[in-house]
Amino acid sequence: MTAAASKYVWSHKHLLGLEHLTAEDIRFILQTARGFEGVSTRSVKKVPALRGKVVVNLFFEPSTRTKSSFYLAASRLSADTLDFSASGSSLSKGETVVDTARNIEAMGVDVIVVRHKQSGVPQLLAESVACSVVNAGDGAHEHPTQALLDMYTMGQRLNRPDFDFSGLNVAIVGDIAHSRVARSNIHGLQKLGANVLLVGPPTLVPRTFEALGCEVHHDLDAVLSRIDVANMLRVQFERITSQAFPSVREYATVFGLSAPRLAKMKKDVLVMHPGPINRGLEIESAVADGPNSAILQQVANGLAVRMAVLFLVHGAQYMNAEGENDE
Ligand code: NCD
Repeated sequence: MTAAASKYVWSHKHLLGLEHLTAEDIRFILQTARGFEGVSTRSVKKVPALRGKVVVNLFFEPSTRTKSSFYLAASRLSADTLDFSASGSSLSKGETVVDTARNIEAMGVDVIVVRHKQSGVPQLLAESVACSVVNAGDGAHEHPTQALLDMYTMGQRLNRPDFDFSGLNVAIVGDIAHSRVARSNIHGLQKLGANVLLVGPPTLVPRTFEALGCEVHHDLDAVLSRIDVANMLRVQFERITSQAFPSVREYATVFGLSAPRLAKMKKDVLVMHPGPINRGLEIESAVADGPNSAILQQVANGLAVRMAVLFLVHGAQYMNAEGENDE
């Protein structure tokens, strides 16, 4: 470790997105996650790091894997967990969300994990409550833990244990315009040195994304041979308001990752997908379940990454100005 690296101190009480984190912050989370990875394979799958603490899942949008992953991650850190699912429209207005969070906080909560269809809600809560806030997906804005687990999986599968992604071409394919997963990945991957290619129809991948420093492509076949990692996004029908492409069948033909397309890519290309998968649309089953796929590994890694995030944000609550833990 260099002298500079050894001076690094994590100081973020909240995780709202990757846009405002540094490469060092991101690598520190990923390295902390590595320390937690082994917990899931022990016979007793728990460590006492958050014993006596309370983590609340405040989900205003449907979710299976993210919610259960946060729940399990908190349990493995020995925290008490509470699931507060607020689906329905009466709670979706800004002020009420804050009130809900304040009420929950009054029960003595240490970390609130929030998902909301509106961008900016986690930020709003972080400004309104005293406990830590973790963003589990806000509108089309950010989904930082998904991008972190994607990058963790890349480090593992591509044998880059220092999470330096220089020289890698990472393609994010599909519905970029509506994707918080894409935005968090763009910020994170670029900070770690990767070149990001955004691929999809012009309606879902507008040229404006070039301003973020990404390559924008509307022809997947033209870039196939350059790709080291293909992150295939779900077409988010629930967010698309106008017709973004002629038909589902045409989308699958032009942008779906099929076996013949995979055969034209680098032999060891890594195929990822945040789930839930529309099999046969953005990815063919043979590819999703094949040897290049890291999809289930991503889910498994999500646990270690979320354990690291909960542990770090909670610890930062008790940090003094010197970066020492006061608790
Ligand atoms: C993503 C989400 O909800 O943003 N999924 C997830 O977190 N597992 C992506 C998606 O819904 O397509």
